Amino acid sequence: MIRPLLVAANWKMHKSSADVSAYFDAFDRAAPAPRAGVEVAFFPPFPLLEAVVRATRGRRHASVGGQTCHWQAQGAFTGEVSAGMIADTGARRVLVGHSERRQLFGETDETCALKLRAALAAGLEPMLCVGETLEERERGSARAVVLRQLTRAADGLTREESARLTVAYEPVWAIGTGRTAEPGDAEEMHAAIREILATLSSPETAGATRILYGGSVKPDNAAVLLGQPDVDGALVGGASLDPHGFAAIVAAACG
Ligand code: 13P
Repeated sequence: MIRPLLVAANWKMHKSSADVSAYFDAFDRAAPAPRAGVEVAFFPPFPLLEAVVRATRGRRHASVGGQTCHWQAQGAFTGEVSAGMIADTGARRVLVGHSERRQLFGETDETCALKLRAALAAGLEPMLCVGETLEERERGSARAVVLRQLTRAADGLTREESARLTVAYEPVWAIGTGRTAEPGDAEEMHAAIREILATLSSPETAGATRILYGGSVKPDNAAVLLGQPDVDGALVGGASLDPHGFAAIVAAACG
């Protein structure tokens, strides 16, 4: 099963509209030419979604997504953005259950399940983020935590819905800390995630699902992580803010 690698930039709460065209000019100069087998995605803050959709229009290997969504289509939910509103900008993806959302904004497995379904109903491709805290890893429950997060969110999807799911394994202790998972540990968790996906959907669908690694991915550690058989891409925070750094990670994916 050949899965195209997906290298994704999560800009979190960074950048302004004035930065977008300079970013893509620099990225275009620094990044290798788009090629089959490597895709890129950008997750900017909501106010920049349309500008990034415009900046990437016509690029077959690029897609854009929101960083979260509400599970209702509309309503009196001040400050929230629905999956349909994200789709309306021309974006194709949305992150669901990023650990910062879980830890700082009270998202639970239950709300992640609702958001995942709302994203699918709006025609988006959700990227479900899972990952254990340091305490959970030290307690030896990393695998159980990740598999619980995955099962609670993704159980009961139709075949077509499962086919639109991407998973990002982001150990919380590796996010923004400069510490990455050992490539072997990442591979072990990715393989476990794929096994569970096979039971939740089918071995064929699980074999085609991209499982990205996230957590302090940098130009100098990307190649070894992306070289693991079940690591199908990277979800990059800090290093994606610099177009040259992000281009170098894309280059690592291109081999
Ligand atoms: P860093 O790459 O800054 O560790 O962030 C990872 C992340 O949270 C991507 O979603």
